[in-house]
Amino acid sequence: MRAAISLYSYKHNDGERRYAQGKGVGSDVGCIGVGCCCGGICQSAGRRDARLRHFGRVRRKTRALDGPVSIASGREQRERVTHVHAMIPVSVQHKLLVWLSTGSLLILFSAGLLSKASEPVWRWTLPAGVSAPPIPADNPMTAAKVELGRRLFYDADLSADGTMSCATCHEQKHAFADGNRTHPGVTDEPARRNVPGLANVAWFTPLTFADPANTTLEAQVASPVFGIRPVEMGMAGREAEIGVRLGRDSCYQVMFARAFPENGGRIDFANVARALASFERTLVSHGSAWDRQQLSPDAKIGSTLFARDCAACHSGPHFTDSAMHRLEAADPTFADQGLFEKTGIDADRGRFRTPSLRNVTLTGPWWHDGSARSLADAIARHGLTHEPAETNHLIAFLESLSDPEFIRRKSLGMPSEACGKPL
Ligand code: HEC
Ligand code: HEC
Repeated sequence: MRAAISLYSYKHNDGERRYAQGKGVGSDVGCIGVGCCCGGICQSAGRRDARLRHFGRVRRKTRALDGPVSIASGREQRERVTHVHAMIPVSVQHKLLVWLSTGSLLILFSAGLLSKASEPVWRWTLPAGVSAPPIPADNPMTAAKVELGRRLFYDADLSADGTMSCATCHEQKHAFADGNRTHPGVTDEPARRNVPGLANVAWFTPLTFADPANTTLEAQVASPVFGIRPVEMGMAGREAEIGVRLGRDSCYQVMFARAFPENGGRIDFANVARALASFERTLVSHGSAWDRQQLSPDAKIGSTLFARDCAACHSGPHFTDSAMHRLEAADPTFADQGLFEKTGIDADRGRFRTPSLRNVTLTGPWWHDGSARSLADAIARHGLTHEPAETNHLIAFLESLSDPEFIRRKSLGMPSEACGKPL
């Protein structure tokens, strides 16, 4: 089941050394298989890509996440309070009601009770003015779920031949994009779309470039895992196998039990999706120069141009209106028809969701198909007219949206251990 894979290192056109599966075809990097060459530089890597490492064995011990873990946010506290309240006998509820009027006591009580009843709930650490993202009522954030989701995000066992994890395409150092034009899935069939970064996905709806029905992170997980157009992780028709594979690892048994006490720690795709979604909601990026209001003089000029020409669509704290626009002439012969593929409405041909511009300097190449090789190219393709100096100022502004802390934050990287044991 875990196919042996050969990996090749190659020098990407940005000068960085990367590693690719030997059998990969069709990606921008041009690695075409055993003995392949990318600009003459492909060679046998002689090592496994860390991202494809399989996760390991057992130990009955758990550890805390690096991330912010303590008591609940206001919203979660309210949800928890309702929940706890409903489970307590009526006589006790009356007493509780008295305590309720002294709000602070209640918080102490619920926090204490919860820490015994289940995992500590999640506390968001967000800058002033940014409110917590919406969380589905049936998947509240907990530290245990986030920890499990993080491990799953980096686990190649979610793919048909055990060679591809979410992080194969969504790499932290690229703000969870991957630096390639497109990234083929496990069957090597060429991919269609560029891998987007995942900063602040918790706030995005709809998700992906052109699917209005893809509205929750939980539901989105099915696309890479089971999708067939294109095949990414290749598990279509093999849903049950996911539980079987993960269930063989007794550390996963412990982690699922902690994350999902409400359904007996079931190891199945639904819980995998819930845990992944919870981890993805922690991909929060608010540490850019723009967030700190430390714009360089060029970026300041750029911000004025941006407000004039761009902010209508790249609006709000995530620089997207979440709407789908057509920027280039529609052409029914294009391989990717954007929103039209979902609606069948002619006017929707070539319409794509406005991408967020957070970390945009790290997520290139750009455009839904990765065909824009520079930010200047991406800007020019909007059909707006700018002097070269204006484009440079706009780029300086876009640079101020990158968050160096986000791509280094340990709690978002590949975990080095699970259940107290190195992975
Ligand atoms: C083979 C590469 C690949 C793999 C593996 C992959 N993705 Fe993606 N991901 C993509 C591409 C390409 C898109 C854009 C798809 C589209 O717009 O149709 C995307 C889009 C997304 C989005 C939507 C982002 C947004 O801005 O709306 C999320 C969330 C996401 N992926 C999460 C995941 C998770 C979780 C996994 C693992 C279960 C995963 N991806 C595995 C390539 C990949
Ligand atoms: C009419 C709405 C609209 C306006 C105005 C607009 N954009 Fe965009 N922008 C989009 C859409 C939609 C895309 C995605 C296009 C695609 O992938 O086909 C996009 C893509 C981009 C990208 C590529 C992002 C990526 O991750 O691939 C950049 C960079 C960008 N815009 C910057 C700008 C700048 C700078 C301006 C102002 C000069 C601007 N945009 C004005 C809607 C808009």
